Amino acid sequence: VRTVRLAVIPGDGIGPEVVAEATKVLEAVTAGSDVSFEQTPFSLGAARYLETGDVLTDADLDAIKRHDAILLGAVGGVPGDPRLAGANIERGLLLKLRFELDHYVNLRPTVLYPGVTSPLANPGEVDFVVVREGTEGPYVGNGGAIRQGTPHEVANEVSVNTAYGVERVVRFAFAQAAARRKRLTLVHKTNVLVFAGSLWKRTVDAVASEFPDVAVDYLHVDAATIFLVADPARFDVIVTDNLFGDILTDLAGAISGGIGLAASGNINPDGRYPSMFEPVHGSAPDIAGKGLADPTAAIVSVALLLRHLGETDAATRVERAVAADLADRGDARRSTSEIGDAVVARLAED
Ligand code: NAD
Ligand code: IPM
Ligand code: MN
Repeated sequence: VRTVRLAVIPGDGIGPEVVAEATKVLEAVTAGSDVSFEQTPFSLGAARYLETGDVLTDADLDAIKRHDAILLGAVGGVPGDPRLAGANIERGLLLKLRFELDHYVNLRPTVLYPGVTSPLANPGEVDFVVVREGTEGPYVGNGGAIRQGTPHEVANEVSVNTAYGVERVVRFAFAQAAARRKRLTLVHKTNVLVFAGSLWKRTVDAVASEFPDVAVDYLHVDAATIFLVADPARFDVIVTDNLFGDILTDLAGAISGGIGLAASGNINPDGRYPSMFEPVHGSAPDIAGKGLADPTAAIVSVALLLRHLGETDAATRVERAVAADLADRGDARRSTSEIGDAVVARLAED
């Protein structure tokens, strides 16, 4: 029996609610199989910060690193909570994990499952993956303010793009495209962000020569939002920077039936550090504690986790169970745990 050490970070708001369903599915799909998941819960997030003043200690980070993979729910307190004013849980916890664990690929697949209603009238076959860079761009924290609080304030937030960082994520995206429908779209804003844009463009052109079967195109990010709504079926693999990828993947979630279905993997392809799987959505304070959250995104994140670990059969079974559940979900409003239970029941049928 293979034992996988899994760090579980339920987090805040609906995070623990959806993670409970995701781990329920994980346990069901691996029960009696030759892989077993040894889960270590980590209490991290706004709640932990309010209790102890810690966001992520070195000891937490070291302990997390000693795992094979991470499952995260969502982090972030209630907006405007004055007790969180001095803390930035998103930066200090989520981004710190992505940076420290070198999650340079943020993989965000978008599939419009049969039976799921898209807000688009004619969505067509939506099945694409956004390869979002995860460790650079405007997310690095390279910024500062001058004369803060005065009428002459200057606030800088520098986007950092390195040849090394861009090349490795572009190469990963090409490999994805080569294994899929062989179409890669670079999304950037080369007409305005000329230095970063030039680096991304030249990198894609250079790597393209190694993947002659992959058709490459380019869209400015503003135009990409039009096509995501007007003709999402045109996309296969989108490669883009950290911030554009963040924005595009919420839109991708919306067009494919809602953010409650969108899963992601923060991947360290080198395998030096554990990869981390999480829904694209946040802690949703507006619906937390009410059993209204859709756990599907967290459950599909478990499928991505299983696939990443090479547990292909289990991954496929989870995906099939989710697809079966979505196929005849209809308009019935079910609670978070009812959806988790329904997916588990589908697993048993399979
Ligand atoms: P959000 O994704 O939490 O919520 C946006 C909207 O989507 C809300 O109306 C919410 O109710 C709905 N929604 C989200 N997940 C849902 C689900 N599973 N089922 C049904 N509806 C769902 O985004 P936000 O409101 O911008 O952010 C709230 C907090 O979460 C903030 O603190 C933010 O920084 C944080 N956040 C964390 C992560 C993460 O941990 N990965 C991601 C995004 C936002
Ligand atoms: C996401 C979130 C995070 C991001 C925030 C919470 C830091 O929006 O995972 O998409 O911007 O990457
Ligand atoms: Mn986001």
